[in-house]
Amino acid sequence: MGDALRYAVRPMQVEDVPQANEIDRECFPTQWPPPSYKRELLFGSLSHYLVAWDTEQPAPPPENPAGRSRPSLFWERIRYLLGMERKEPQSPGQRIVGLIGLWIMADKAHFTTIGVRGAYRRQGIGELLLIAAIGLALRRNASVVTLEMRRSNLAAQALYEKYGFSRIGVRKGYYSDDGEDAVVMSTERITSASFQSQLQRLKKAHAQRWGSAQLQID
Ligand SMILES: CC(C)(COP(=O)(O)OP(=O)(O)OC[C@H]1O[C@@H](n2cnc3c(N)ncnc32)[C@H](O)[C@@H]1OP(=O)(O)O)[C@@H](O)C(=O)NCCC(=O)NCCS
Repeated sequence: MGDALRYAVRPMQVEDVPQANEIDRECFPTQWPPPSYKRELLFGSLSHYLVAWDTEQPAPPPENPAGRSRPSLFWERIRYLLGMERKEPQSPGQRIVGLIGLWIMADKAHFTTIGVRGAYRRQGIGELLLIAAIGLALRRNASVVTLEMRRSNLAAQALYEKYGFSRIGVRKGYYSDDGEDAVVMSTERITSASFQSQLQRLKKAHAQRWGSAQLQID
């Protein structure tokens, strides 16, 4: 097993939203507006977001370093509904380098997004986020995971294929910005013996190659 990995995974917090928006802009420049991470975190009972953060690099200081302590979820929701949300939430002081989003409905999980900052790609972070998100789907009793992505996105397709996703269809002209087709992918049952043994093998190989990581999924 390698040394400890420099990157760790945890659930996204409201304070991460400015950095999540930066990652979104960098990863999906033509898809505007970005998802409202804040609304999803405050009200989206089906949606879950995980972030990968760099344990060796602190985030840039918030614009208002005298920031107040974090309000409760109740007050965050009220403020949001009244349009009184804080413009610059206080950063938890961690550099967020990637994120993954999923919806879990009954026994189905659907990955809605994955993105890694350009300067941090090809270091196993996408894979780490995927391992964590599959772990979360299993923890919440999902039995299959689906997703869709641009037909031209070969990096993401390679990542998902490595983890046993296969193509189950194409949605013609799915992306409204340029009419590109979406490729739809799905796992087999994620609780099956074959998926589980492949997942364990991939997790072990990831840890040997990149180091063992701290994964906090909920
Ligand atoms: C797709 C993305 C998340 C991958 O993140 P990453 O941290 O660079 O990926 P990893 O280093 O963990 O790579 C894991 C696997 O993904 C595949 N992969 C990643 N980047 C690839 C590339 N540029 N070309 C081909 N395969 C690639 C490989 O199978 C790789 O395994 P390997 O190292 O054994 O070859 C990243 O490229 C990204 O943020 N892209 C922009 C956003 C995006 O397109 N998201 C997908 C929308 S569905």
